[in-house]
Amino acid sequence: MTMQVGNGWLQLEGRVCAVTGAGSGIGAAIAAELAAAGARVALLDRDGAAAAQVARRLEEGGGTAFALECDVSREASVQDAARRVRHELGDCGVLVNNAGMLRPAALDSVTVEEWNAVLAVNLTGQLLCARAFRPQLQAAGQGSIVNVASIAALHPQTRSGAYSASKAGVLLMSRQLAAEWGPLGLRSNAICPGMIRTPLSAKFYEEPGFEARRAALTASRRVGEPLDIANAALFLASPRSGYLNGAELVVDGGMDTMLMDLVPRPGFNATPA
Ligand SMILES: NC(=O)c1ccc[n+]([C@@H]2O[C@H](COP(=O)([O-])OP(=O)(O)OC[C@H]3O[C@@H](n4cnc5c(N)ncnc54)[C@H](O)[C@@H]3O)[C@@H](O)[C@H]2O)c1
Repeated sequence: MTMQVGNGWLQLEGRVCAVTGAGSGIGAAIAAELAAAGARVALLDRDGAAAAQVARRLEEGGGTAFALECDVSREASVQDAARRVRHELGDCGVLVNNAGMLRPAALDSVTVEEWNAVLAVNLTGQLLCARAFRPQLQAAGQGSIVNVASIAALHPQTRSGAYSASKAGVLLMSRQLAAEWGPLGLRSNAICPGMIRTPLSAKFYEEPGFEARRAALTASRRVGEPLDIANAALFLASPRSGYLNGAELVVDGGMDTMLMDLVPRPGFNATPA
């Protein structure tokens, strides 16, 4: 007998899933994979036109998608989005907190406004969304929250203002949500993406040789794609990860394991053929 392992394995068919920052990059890939798994997907983005464009593409592919403009840093906007998702698609069982931004700035010169703006989107935005969707996540049963952090949560990303601090905050907030809401039947887990080629980082890749230099720092010897993160997000969204709560998945092609390999040690640094 041949076993068929398709998207049905994920048990996400018909599940209502909300993805923030779904108008671009990693969020768009997560939304697309959820739709391909048969989920009914709400795409939230500050850029409503971008979310609508992705939603159209998913619907053309036979998926169910609902786009709406939402700024995750504004409580009223988030509350309104949660209401509209429930009205349009029913109780939401999966929230993917993905919206995020990066503003270059060194710590000696970052303005308080820039610092607070990054925290407001990357950290506070995830809390506001979790709180706004919590009643639906409970009503839907087996509610799962997936919080997108970064390897910058584990290592300081220099000259990036509050980015690392915001992402480190995401990891602890994610665990705190697990501890506080686990007894309500909810799960909260985080993903730390490594270097992923998206519009957020696309400019770097235009420089000749840049991609090869980045790949060389990674155990898997390649830069990550949004699909690499979507695959991890779908697992955490799915009841298949039902006993993971407060966990962190580092999805970086093994970059985080590379420190000793990058230290010059004559005779030890050769890459196997
Ligand atoms: N690309 C990488 O290498 C990488 C690495 C680690 C972590 N991440 C994280 O992954 C997530 C997605 O990043 P990406 O690379 O796909 O970025 P991206 O810039 O391609 O997409 C981010 C999306 O979020 C939206 N957004 C920004 N602020 C918002 C707000 N206040 N409310 C609603 N939507 C908002 C943007 O409009 C955009 O559509 C972010 O949290 C980012 O920090 C990315």
